[in-house]
Amino acid sequence: MAEASTKVTVVGAGNVGSNTARRIAEKDLADEVVMVDVIEGLPQGLALDINHSAAVEGFDARVIGTNDYADTAGSDVTVITAGKARQPGMSRMDLLDANTEIVQGVVEQIAAHSPDTIIVVVSNPLDEMTYLASLVSGFPKERVMGMAGVLDSSRLRFFIAEKLGVAPTSVEAITLGSHGDQMVALPRHATVDGKPLPDLVDETTLQELFERTKNAGAEIVEYLKKGSAYYAPSSAAAAMVNAILSDSGEVLPCCAWTTGQYGISDVYLGVPARLGRKGVQGIVELELSEDERRALEEAAEAIRSKCKELESRRS
Ligand code: LAC
Repeated sequence: MAEASTKVTVVGAGNVGSNTARRIAEKDLADEVVMVDVIEGLPQGLALDINHSAAVEGFDARVIGTNDYADTAGSDVTVITAGKARQPGMSRMDLLDANTEIVQGVVEQIAAHSPDTIIVVVSNPLDEMTYLASLVSGFPKERVMGMAGVLDSSRLRFFIAEKLGVAPTSVEAITLGSHGDQMVALPRHATVDGKPLPDLVDETTLQELFERTKNAGAEIVEYLKKGSAYYAPSSAAAAMVNAILSDSGEVLPCCAWTTGQYGISDVYLGVPARLGRKGVQGIVELELSEDERRALEEAAEAIRSKCKELESRRS
């Protein structure tokens, strides 16, 4: 018997969405990748363009561009990239009002057409939009998560690699907390070829690396002048889709619902999560210093209070 075919929907055919669809197709992570957008012709044109590269790149996945959510029905995973991107000088939080409306509408459609899907939110402000997606969908919390930790950690790994003149893949590092000012970097969990980072650089350099990582999204927005990053964000989203669909059980830092881990409950927060076919299949508790624990709690409280604000505005 043939294996059941797999289907991923990417909502939003902007730079992040189209690159996410392309990466998922190129890596053959799913049989069908549906890209849906409100702009007529945009997802159709980009899907055709990606499909035209299949023979050269050597992938079998088929990309379908559409403006109709009926075409997304029965998706195994849905990546939500819809919404406005930052402009120079804006924080991710400045997108809250505009993107709340957009993400709410998207999630209503997705939940109606794919009641069993796993949702990966990419829209900003990330932690709050993930919470919104969980509220609107009414899905079990393990089936709604956000992409940020893989991106922030990958940025940190690059900056460390650049500083030390090594390959980014020789660096392991992880960030927790929020996708924003309350990102929590864990120096003792960062290693270069297995050696702890704090043994290789001084405290000032360590702080500079973390600061640059925290502001990396804004640094790119300043360069681009219109819009925000998309190559690394789409890589990170595709890595999560891969872990989910292959049921790998890989532990990736992502925005997941906490139920007492790190002493924190009932808030979406960046934590190391084990991903598989059921979504978030567990949260890994790393050993944290007192300062790191406090920083994580502060990030959780900041997200919690924004989510309350968001909820009161909706009701
Ligand atoms: C960034 C956006 C995707 O960090 O939040 O570039």
